[in-house]
Amino acid sequence: MIVKDLEFVKFITKTKVQAQVKALAEMINADYQSKAPVFLPILNGSFMFASDLMKQIDVPNKISFVKVSSYSGTASTGQLKTLVGLELSLFNQDVIIVEDIVDTGLTLQKIVNELKELGTRSVEVVALLRKPPAREKKMDVKYVGFDIENDFVLGYGLDYDGHGRNLTDIYRMKPTNSENPAL
Ligand code: IMP
Repeated sequence: MIVKDLEFVKFITKTKVQAQVKALAEMINADYQSKAPVFLPILNGSFMFASDLMKQIDVPNKISFVKVSSYSGTASTGQLKTLVGLELSLFNQDVIIVEDIVDTGLTLQKIVNELKELGTRSVEVVALLRKPPAREKKMDVKYVGFDIENDFVLGYGLDYDGHGRNLTDIYRMKPTNSENPAL
């Protein structure tokens, strides 16, 4: 499949994605039984993941979508913006950040630090995808859907220059020098 100027191949089917989202929700439901967490999905990338995840959360909760962006094209620009759009007081709250993907972890680290300064009781992270840099740094991501390699991925909220967010399967960029990149 060509998106803009790059070729992508199917990587994680929507069936697998949905099964993993359900498993993550079940873990969160079990861990937060006597709590009422505040979910902070990070826009734009987590909109589809957050929507599917929240449908399966059965503990009392609040949701506030926030935004921060560090990407342009397929490589991190390293320019971090601050967290915007927070409309709830998080003082003494159990917060769960909902991320589409953790790559270098810079975005996440920045958000977690900002949230701790607001006097939160606890901050955990649920990420659908995690790439090796975050794994190697031992970033504290409590709930991870899929550990993937360093491929650029697209779909299920993730974009390539604004394209492809609405795809329900997850695709990865086709390596230019590989003959059989598809799974
Ligand atoms: P980090 O700060 O390097 O961890 O970058 C995390 C953010 O970069 C994610 O929330 C995504 O918006 C974006 N991102 C990282 N990897 C990809 C990718 O493979 N496809 C699309 N967006 C990505």
